[in-house]
Amino acid sequence: MSIEVKETTLLDELEINHCLAISKRLFGDGYHTKKFFLQDNIIKLIALKNNKIVGFFTTKRIKKKIIIDCIAIKHKWQKKKIGSLLTNYFFKNIVKNDEKVIAYAWKVDNKIPAHKINIKFGLKKIKSLGKYWKRKCNKSFKCLQYHNSCKCECVLYSN
Ligand SMILES: CC(C)(COP(=O)(O)OP(=O)(O)OC[C@H]1O[C@@H](n2cnc3c(N)ncnc32)[C@H](O)[C@@H]1OP(=O)(O)O)[C@@H](O)C(=O)NCCC(=O)NCCS
Repeated sequence: MSIEVKETTLLDELEINHCLAISKRLFGDGYHTKKFFLQDNIIKLIALKNNKIVGFFTTKRIKKKIIIDCIAIKHKWQKKKIGSLLTNYFFKNIVKNDEKVIAYAWKVDNKIPAHKINIKFGLKKIKSLGKYWKRKCNKSFKCLQYHNSCKCECVLYSN
């Protein structure tokens, strides 16, 4: 399985639409917007299979920290090491020496899908941030996990 990783701050229209479609299936409609993907302070890594996007990884620097914003792999391509490939690219090519890395991991149904990836790359669980997305959940986006109330929690990881 040959997957190519491409790093960019500028995605074209088609690439943005592919990322939005992946996000909509995983998180819900409107969680990511076109405006988000157009921000040039956000570094985007995309994973391509035969020139089609199968996953993306977004990150940005805030002051002296680098934040992992989101890792999203198209459903049928999950658990095939593409998330690890993108994270490996991030740590090898983007993170600078001794830079503080922060990841906000999603906890859903009592599971943290990104936990193993975070640990594998040297991030440690710091603390739970509780219902971090509650204000936005099912308001500014249509959350797939929302059932009468916000269900997801956020867990902070760092190196
Ligand atoms: C979580 C996610 C980014 C991982 O990417 P991936 O390509 O599927 O992961 P990999 O194949 O590289 O697997 C890395 C490890 O994570 C584990 N893992 C992957 N998905 C998992 C999940 N949903 N729950 C628990 N562990 C998971 C794998 O079993 C693997 O463990 P191992 O190293 O012990 O074999 C991807 O499954 C995804 O996009 N999920 C939906 C969106 C999401 O939850 N994103 C994270 C938001 S913070």
